[in-house]
Amino acid sequence: MTTKLYVEEFGNGLPITLLHGYPLDHSIWMELVPQIEKEARLILPDLRGHGKSPALQGPYSMLEMAEDVVGMWDSLGVEKSVIGGHSMGGYVALALARYFPERLAGLTLVASRTNADAPEKRKARLESIEDVRKNGIGDAILSMPEKLSYNNSVQKFCREIILDASQVGVMGVLAAMADRPDSLDLFLGLEIPSMIIAGQNDQIVPIESLRSVAQKMKRPWLVEISNAGHMPMLEEPKEVASALLAFIQFIKENN
Ligand code: MLT
Repeated sequence: MTTKLYVEEFGNGLPITLLHGYPLDHSIWMELVPQIEKEARLILPDLRGHGKSPALQGPYSMLEMAEDVVGMWDSLGVEKSVIGGHSMGGYVALALARYFPERLAGLTLVASRTNADAPEKRKARLESIEDVRKNGIGDAILSMPEKLSYNNSVQKFCREIILDASQVGVMGVLAAMADRPDSLDLFLGLEIPSMIIAGQNDQIVPIESLRSVAQKMKRPWLVEISNAGHMPMLEEPKEVASALLAFIQFIKENN
């Protein structure tokens, strides 16, 4: 069953949809709006279970999360969009590429990864679901901001969002992340333009792992942001906006 997503829109032109990571919301992208809205139609939803979108009872799947995005595009009259996914949003972007490739004009991962969870990681996520069910949003989630960034104001910004995270939403989405398939071959085989944006100090997705994915791309395109961790769109918004604008320009020129 699809969910109607809360969405904010800015600008006109080629649609670019940016999907936030876990357990955040669309507001992580707001600093990019002034630069991007001049060149493109920027679409910023809250994924199910996050922000102002409904938190249905889980477990969720990446397919359902992708279907929500397609439902949103249908209601906005968007036939094709560039997609950018931050961390968990990148997993949803890869699900869109897997199930709805005809709806994508380009795909960029932002501090995200193509691999599935290793067995220990999957086990830990399933244990977290039980923990959150019994105890609510606990230490594991509330301590996330320190891992997201070394920058105090970015930590504070993320903490505010995380404090409002939905217990039901967190449980639903942990299940979707635990069950996602490996998407390395899918990513490397994409027919549409693809790019990776990565923070050099990311404590969650190590830069080395993304360098090794980028080396295997048909057209390697890795934008490394120094002075950034897992939240480059908040830590270095101008650099991230410039990378996205270069990507949009490339897509326009190669269409
Ligand atoms: C995120 O930032 O979206 C999450 O850390 C992703 C994950 O837990 O795999």
